Order: sequence, then structure tokens, then C-alpha cells
Amino acid sequence: LPNGLALTPPMGWNSWNKFGCNITEQKVESVADYLVSSGLAASGYAYVDIDDCWMAGSRDAAGRLVPDPVKFPDGISGTAAYVHAKGLKLGIYESAGTKTCAGYPGSLGHEQTDANSFASWGVDLLKYDNCNDDGTSAQRRDTTMRDALANNSSGRAILFSLCEWGVDNVWTWGAGVGNMWRTTGDINDSYGSLLSIFHANVKLAQYAGPGGWNDPDMLEVGNGGMSFTEDRSEFSLWAEMAAPLITGNDLPNSSAATASILGNRDVVAVDQDALGKQGVQVSAAGGLDVLAKPLAGGDVSVALFNENSGAATISTTASAVGLPASSSGYSLDNLWSHVKTTTSGAISATVPGHGTVLFRVSTGSATSTGTTHALVGASS
Ligand code: DGJ
Repeated sequence: LPNGLALTPPMGWNSWNKFGCNITEQKVESVADYLVSSGLAASGYAYVDIDDCWMAGSRDAAGRLVPDPVKFPDGISGTAAYVHAKGLKLGIYESAGTKTCAGYPGSLGHEQTDANSFASWGVDLLKYDNCNDDGTSAQRRDTTMRDALANNSSGRAILFSLCEWGVDNVWTWGAGVGNMWRTTGDINDSYGSLLSIFHANVKLAQYAGPGGWNDPDMLEVGNGGMSFTEDRSEFSLWAEMAAPLITGNDLPNSSAATASILGNRDVVAVDQDALGKQGVQVSAAGGLDVLAKPLAGGDVSVALFNENSGAATISTTASAVGLPASSSGYSLDNLWSHVKTTTSGAISATVPGHGTVLFRVSTGSATSTGTTHALVGASS
């Protein structure tokens, strides 16, 4: 959506994956505190997003949405003020239907009223769900809210995140309506879910770019259902696919291992690269994937993902991932181990089952990218 927002994939945290309806102002504010104290805010995590269940059960006499006074004693405006004071942005949730998925008042038919409320409260992002529709298309209902957001009475810029679960080939119209669009049904905290969403989302690279991104759903890193290797794969693959990096764990209580994943600035830099290209599958024979993502300045990020349970060697070449011929060879920066090597063209690694090795590859044997940063909270 050409509204000047989301020129790189949005980054932040959302309440749903870990807390579901059990969301409070206090939780939101503790996430904001942690983003700043951990260094994650400085790494680019900017949005603190409240998902479903933040509302009272009915609208007020003027037809406006009302925040649940127990969960949000200072309202959304008070919560937004707290988050803004930390230098962060606040996201909220609604549905393009008569009710949200959890049964709270929906925005269908109330789009302008609700857009005005969000803007007046200081909301910076709207995640717009697809439950309880009126039988009309998601494109039509989402477009009505797009226009309401654009015309909000405060003139506030609000990032528009479509959550229509990949219906109606949203990727073919999403860029005209939203800043990101879900390409699949809901993620869950399992390797099987990661894998099926990866397979669906990786095919859609041509539709993504600055201002409009394919959204394979919020991260499950740190939620406990996957191994450290699988969590790292999720983060690597989401970065390689230029996906929004919206964490979904109990962020303030992240383990050191989880913090080392979310805080890896070299991997974040792949996701946030200014060229804004989603990586593509160069090969995928036998569940051994090679992905290539061209980066600004000519480097290429190469992901070697082993879908299978046993370790395997995955190999490609500089030419296969789109790098030009180089008489001085190439440098490989392993973005997880931080080991730097050189090669005349072969790119290869032994990858554990369900694991991903992520290289930043540059032409020339000098390791010149200078992009290795300290891990945040790392212990591994
Ligand atoms: C369905 C969405 O896909 C989820 O991400 C979450 O927002 C729930 N609805 C909330 O009810």
C-alpha cells in the first residue's frame, strides 16, 4: 500500500500466539520495557501489537468501541502513550465482520468510526481479521477499512495489516490494499506448521516488496513447541522470505537461547535489507532447500534448509544463487556461527535435521561486509 509505511518488513511483538485472549495493559507495557532494555528495539523491533479480546462486549451510546476497563485501565490511549514514551509504536486488532473471531464487536459497517477511534488513541498499526463476514469479499471489506484509515479524522498514519488467511489469492491484490497480508491460515507452535506455511509462502516472492509484504504469520520462536534448531530455522526462513518479524512469545521472559535468535542483527539485516526482495527457492530436491535473497549492494543471502530429520549436506554455487563471476572468489559469512570462510564458488554445509544454515555471500575474498554485530543476550 503506497502510504509510505512498511518500506521494510514490520518488526515487533503481538500478544496472540502466547497469550490469546489473556491480554492486559500490564503485559503490553512489560513487553515495551523489555524491547528497550534488551536492545531489541534498537535492532528494529518497533511495534507492540494487541490482538483480539481487548474490547468491552459492546459499543458505547455513540457507537464507538470501548476498551475493556479491567484489562486496559488506562484505555488504549493510555497504553499507546506508554508505548510511545518508550520510542515504540502501538498496534491494535479488529475484524472485517460483525464480530471479531473471539466474539467482540466487529468493524463491518463501522469502519470510519473505528478508524477515527484508533487514530485518536494514537494507534500506529491495525491488524484486520476476517471472522464473521457478511458474505462479501475480503478485498471489498478490507478496501473499505483501507479508505477509512486513510481518511481518519486525526490524519494519523496507520500501518494496515491484512489478516484474511490467504483467501481469494490476496497476494494478487494485497499490495493495493494493505502493507502486509497473511498468506495462510494460522500458525501453531510446531515444526509441521512451520513447514507447511514455508511451502505456501515461499512461492509468492514476486508479490512482495517495499510497502507490501507476504505475511507467513507471527513467529513461534521461544514458545517451546519447537527445538532450538527449529526455532532458528523459522527465524532464518522468515528473514530470507522478507517476512514481517512479529515475535509471539512471552518476550520479557525469553530464555538466553531465544534472545540469541531474536537478537541476531545479521539475520535481522537480511530481513530488513533495503532492496526489499523476498528470497526464492533455487532448488528443493528431496527436501533440501536452497534459497537466495539478493541484497542491496550486491551480496546474496543464501539459506540452506534441511526439511528432513537426519543431517544432510546441502550444496549450491555462487552462480546458482545469482552472484556474478568473480576471479577473486567469494566470502561466506555464516550468520549463526559467525565463522567467515572463502570459496571459489562452491557453497555447501552440513545442516542438522530441520536446521537452516544462513550465509551472507559477497564477491571477493575479503570479508568486507562489516555486518557482524554482537548478539543480544546470547549464550549459545
Ligand atoms: C485469527 C487470526 O488469524 C489470528 O492471528 C488471531 O488474530 C485470531 N484470529 C484472534 O481471534
